[in-house]
Amino acid sequence: MEEKEFNEKNIENDLKEELEELVEEEKDYLDQALRPSLWKDYIGQKTIKDNLEILIRAAKERRSAPEHILFYGPPGLGKTTLANLVAKELNTNIRITSGPAIMKVGDLAAILTNLSDGDVLFIDEIHRLNKLIEEVLYPAMESGKLDIIIGKGPSARTIQLDLPKFTLIGATTRVSLLSSPLRSRFSGGVHRLQYYNENEITQIVKNSAKILNIQITDEAALEIAKRSRFTPRTANYLLKRCRDYAQVNKAIIDIEVVNNTLALLEIDNMGLGVAERMLLNTLVNIFPDKPVGLNTLSASIGEEESTLEDVVEPYLLQIGFIERTTRGRVATEKAKEHIKKLEDNL
Ligand SMILES: Nc1ncnc2c1ncn2[C@@H]1O[C@H](COP(=O)(O)OP(=O)(O)OP(=O)(O)O)[C@@H](O)[C@H]1O
Ligand SMILES: [Mg+2]
Repeated sequence: MEEKEFNEKNIENDLKEELEELVEEEKDYLDQALRPSLWKDYIGQKTIKDNLEILIRAAKERRSAPEHILFYGPPGLGKTTLANLVAKELNTNIRITSGPAIMKVGDLAAILTNLSDGDVLFIDEIHRLNKLIEEVLYPAMESGKLDIIIGKGPSARTIQLDLPKFTLIGATTRVSLLSSPLRSRFSGGVHRLQYYNENEITQIVKNSAKILNIQITDEAALEIAKRSRFTPRTANYLLKRCRDYAQVNKAIIDIEVVNNTLALLEIDNMGLGVAERMLLNTLVNIFPDKPVGLNTLSASIGEEESTLEDVVEPYLLQIGFIERTTRGRVATEKAKEHIKKLEDNL
């Protein structure tokens, strides 16, 4: 009996993993298809863009690579897109890698020595770089030198290689996990991407509709924006779902298509999905007026702690639905009202 349950659990886990992989693949596909390829098509984040324009122009005038840049902020706000656009504005190549992909010092050495003068090296999820690799990265970032140890034991010696001039662009959703020596080496700027406003997201939805070659009414674009958690990736995802719905039922995305699609996706009027509502429900109804620890929330919702912190919580914090205290998370009055309204409408 026990074994059967165990197997069922395994199958369930496998299915869940497969589903998650499919969702990831679709996310990547959509990201690439809809990623703006021109600086002017990158909507919003004005202060960051202004700063980068100056950095880029000055570097071009000096004919040297700009100093290293760090982008941080919740998923889907446009960090990778911006890194690609910076390289494009500099007319240089971009080499893309990620913290977890650089496993050995040798991996980093191979990447760095293969750069050409002026290249952009993009390291995604840079908070996941291991400490040994960070140590090798510091002199590379500071003075363009790579120190590597050759041989073992008493015959080991260090050699120093001169690297091409490059700009490191780091991206992370978890800036607090970055060591301060690493953070301080991004002398070209440390930029926090902000949630977009309604106008900006509406514009992004309309631009994406054009790329996908679908018609959408102004009212429908605005409604998607309002329910997108002010995150471009989510807005694009909702648009795509609306298109599928429209394809089957209508030729154009109007407000009715948006409302019906989002009802099917169980996304409420605040743009919150099932995971967000489960989290709020846990705080409001299961542990009322008590701070709840991350591990308890994770167990009660069935999401990993890192997913909660990276994906589910940032927007709830942003709209003032939850607060983080030293003893755990608490729901605010606003959140309680929202949950109550949803329950009343059931
Ligand atoms: N400012 C913007 N203007 C237009 N579209 C945008 C903008 N920012 C993001 N997008 C769209 O959202 C998608 C997701 O953006 P991107 O992949 O750059 O996010 P990210 O911050 O790197 O996310 P993650 O943290 O998950 O890596 C892009 O493919 C693009 O279509
Ligand atoms: Mg990214």
